[in-house]
Order: sequence, then C-alpha cells, then structure tokens
Amino acid sequence: MSEANFDPLELRNALGTFTTGVTVITARGSHGNPVGVTANSFNSVSLDPPLVLWSLAKNSGSLPVFEEAEYFAVHILSNEQQEISNRFAGRGADKFKDLDVPNGLGNTPLLADCCARMQCKTAYRYEGGDHVIFVGEVIDLVHSDATPLAFQAGKYALASRKVDETPLLSSQNDQNSAFSEDYLGYLLWRAYFQFHTMARKQAAIAAYSDLEFLVLVTLFHSSERSGNDLSAAMSYEGSVQDTSSAIKNLITQGLVKSLGTSSKQKFSLTEEGREKTLSILAAAKSTESEFLNKLGMWESVALKNLLKQFITETDPGLPHLWENSHDTH
Ligand SMILES: Cc1cc2nc3c(=O)[nH]c(=O)nc-3n(C[C@H](O)[C@H](O)[C@H](O)COP(=O)(O)O)c2cc1C
Repeated sequence: MSEANFDPLELRNALGTFTTGVTVITARGSHGNPVGVTANSFNSVSLDPPLVLWSLAKNSGSLPVFEEAEYFAVHILSNEQQEISNRFAGRGADKFKDLDVPNGLGNTPLLADCCARMQCKTAYRYEGGDHVIFVGEVIDLVHSDATPLAFQAGKYALASRKVDETPLLSSQNDQNSAFSEDYLGYLLWRAYFQFHTMARKQAAIAAYSDLEFLVLVTLFHSSERSGNDLSAAMSYEGSVQDTSSAIKNLITQGLVKSLGTSSKQKFSLTEEGREKTLSILAAAKSTESEFLNKLGMWESVALKNLLKQFITETDPGLPHLWENSHDTH
C-alpha cells in the first residue's frame, strides 16, 4: 500500500513543472516489426560508462518489443519535429508510414533531423511501478545544434536561453525610463525601426521605396494582382496604402507590366522585375540572417514564435500578405 497523501493528478501536475526535452525511442522486433514511442522520461545516468535511461508504461503496445530488443535508438527531437512527437505518441496506426527510416544497430529504425540520436544497447531493465525502466549503453551518437523541442506542464514548449542580465536600453537608470523601456509598444516600435534601418542599408533594397519593395515582393508571390488588391495587401501596416504611384514608377523602370484594360487592369512582374526581386529577397534574407546569427538560434526561434503568437492574438482581421483575397474578378 502506498503511503502517499496526494492524488495522482496532483503528482502529475507537480511532475509537469519539471521541463524536459522530447524523445522518440525506436526498436525492432524479432519479426522485423518496428516500434517507436514518444517519451520524455529520458535522462542521462552515467558518462563512463555512457548510460542513459527512460521508462515505458506497462500498458504500452510496444513494450514486448522493447523487452526483447537488444538495441534501441533515442532521438532527441528538434523544435521542428512536433509532428513526429505527435505521431509516435499515438496508438494503433502505422507510426512509420511514409517515413524514410534507415536501419541502425540491430536493424533499429533511425529517424533523421533530430537534435541528437543515440544508438543504445539495452544494459538493464528494472521494475518501476506501472512502468519498466530501461537503461541503455550508448554505442553510437550523432548530434546537431538544432533547437530542441521542450515539454512543460503537459504542453509543447520552446526552450530559450536566458541572458544573464537584461540589458538597459538607456543610460538613465531612474524608474520612469525603466518603465518606458519595458513598455511593449516602445520595444516593438524600436525593434521594427532598427530592423528596417538595417535592411535599408542594403543597396538592392535601398534603390526602392518601401511601397515599391512591397509591390515587387507581393507580385513575386502571386502571378498577377489588381491595383486595389495590391493596396489592400499592404494594409497589414495598419492602413490601406495607395500603391498607384509606386506601380507607375516600377512600370517606368521596366520591372512591372500592366495586363488587361482599365476596369480589369492587373499587374505582374516582367522578367527583369523577377530577377530584381530575387536579389531584393536575397538581400533581405541576408540582413535577417546576419541579425539572427548575432541573436543566437534559440532566441531567434523564440522571438519569431512569440511575435507570431502576438500577431495571431491581437489580429483585428488584416488580410494575409500574399493571399489573393480582394480580387473578385
Ligand atoms: C511529450 C510526451 C512524452 C511522453 N513520455 C512517455 C514516457 O516517458 N513513457 C511512456 O510510457 N509514455 C510516454 N508518452 C506516451 C506515449 O508516447 C504513448 O502512450 C504512446 O502511444 C505509446 O505507444 P504504444 O502503445 O504504441 O507503445 C509520452 C507522450 C508524450 C506526448
């Protein structure tokens, strides 16, 4: 009889405060059948000898195979592999369907694109209540610096490193400036301005006005658009922009051509326009990667994720940038 004086849900919630990575652990049965389960009970045990452990529920359909398998492979999933995690957390369906899985030690199926993959030889098995604990000796490993997927309080999470000290943006250290500097509106505006200024330093981008830049890029992503549609597509900036003079300039420069007659007039890129836009996009990408490299990979993923979440949660219904949503004819 257990002496515990809490209910299982409370235990589950308490354990959920321990943030973990997410792994998929695979093995192959003696009849050639592959198995794989998502597991966050994975942990390190020893460096010398190199040992790791994880535990598997006794009601898992894969248990018999893991119990007989001489080898198993641990895949530490990256932030891009949430789908893989969901797939291997399911039951019944063929979890390996359409996956390219080369064979590793003991023909263990191996998954690609993980943060790390360890091929292990089963060293010990222990009883662990409603789970079986597997300890494996790591025989072979590969790893990358991809950003890991995290799991927190029953949900997927993003692992991001903390800076040692939050930098002060101004030299004045009084309470008022500290408040203003912490104000989200100020941070978003300033961040936008600084990013925009950086991008504008690139010659390929500096040659065009903001609207010309946006018209070129929008036309690059959709074959043809009307003037109204182009103007509306820019309204993600907060108001519908009049793009007519930007379009006129681009036509003069031979980058955009007009199709159809006045009421059904549409615009598309010329061949030269396409080439120019490609170099603009490459310049924009290189500014972005220069900045993201300085920020660090984990922080970049976290920043973009949070901005996407912020945009989704505060969206007053702006059109999607490259969607042809405004032309009805
Ligand atoms: C993030 C996450 C972590 C999990 N960790 C474990 C674990 O450590 N051990 C376990 O037995 N099940 C774990 N599960 C549940 C199994 O992946 C799930 O029960 C799976 O369907 C078992 O498959 P099977 O019955 O085909 O063996 C986890 C699920 C998720 C989504």
